Amino acid sequence: MIIAIDGPAASGKGTLARRIAAHFGLRHLDTGLTYRAVAAALLARGLPLGDEAVAVATARNLDLAHLDRDVLSAHEIGEAASRIAVLPGLRQELVRLQRAFAMEPPGAVLDGRDIGTVVCPDATVKLFCTASAQERARRRTAELQSKGVEATLETVQADLERRDARDAARTVGPLKLADDAHLLDTSEMDIETAFKAAVDIVDNVYAR
Ligand code: DC
Repeated sequence: MIIAIDGPAASGKGTLARRIAAHFGLRHLDTGLTYRAVAAALLARGLPLGDEAVAVATARNLDLAHLDRDVLSAHEIGEAASRIAVLPGLRQELVRLQRAFAMEPPGAVLDGRDIGTVVCPDATVKLFCTASAQERARRRTAELQSKGVEATLETVQADLERRDARDAARTVGPLKLADDAHLLDTSEMDIETAFKAAVDIVDNVYAR
């Protein structure tokens, strides 16, 4: 059983994916963390973000069991991750690791941008989780402020929209709704409602 959850930045797909995985007893991989981990390693060593060979070599040393969400959630790491995510060779290497994770029994929930389209095109269920840019910016700003990080709604929204545009425009593995994905717009939902809606979608696919 493989559940693919794609969507733009701050759409709530990560929280949803974790809860869905726990509910169905599956393992979970936030694939954004794999791009972030490579970006963080490059930044830490002062290496250029555009050097594909270096990025690929860094990806080969990734250990999926040790991706530290707290460290990798930093804003500048997300920006750098989105920039290196255009490198086709790097994507190929990370997709290989992500597929290997998905294939292990009893299956998994993977969330990202290209799970339903590239990483797991044969996933049992595909969800595309989204919300309006204003609502995503509102949630992200509140999250940052709760951590004591200074942030204004306007700059956060401009930032999210720039990142979405870059993620949707790249030629390899862009942010895209798979033809057979179920669209879940959470603009008007709290996390509990979104979780229940997602479980219903998965249960319905199973009932068929
Ligand atoms: O979901 P996130 O914010 O942690 O992702 C960070 C960046 O990583 C995102 O802007 C683009 C890239 N990414 C990707 O290209 N493909 C994925 N499946 C997941 C993330």
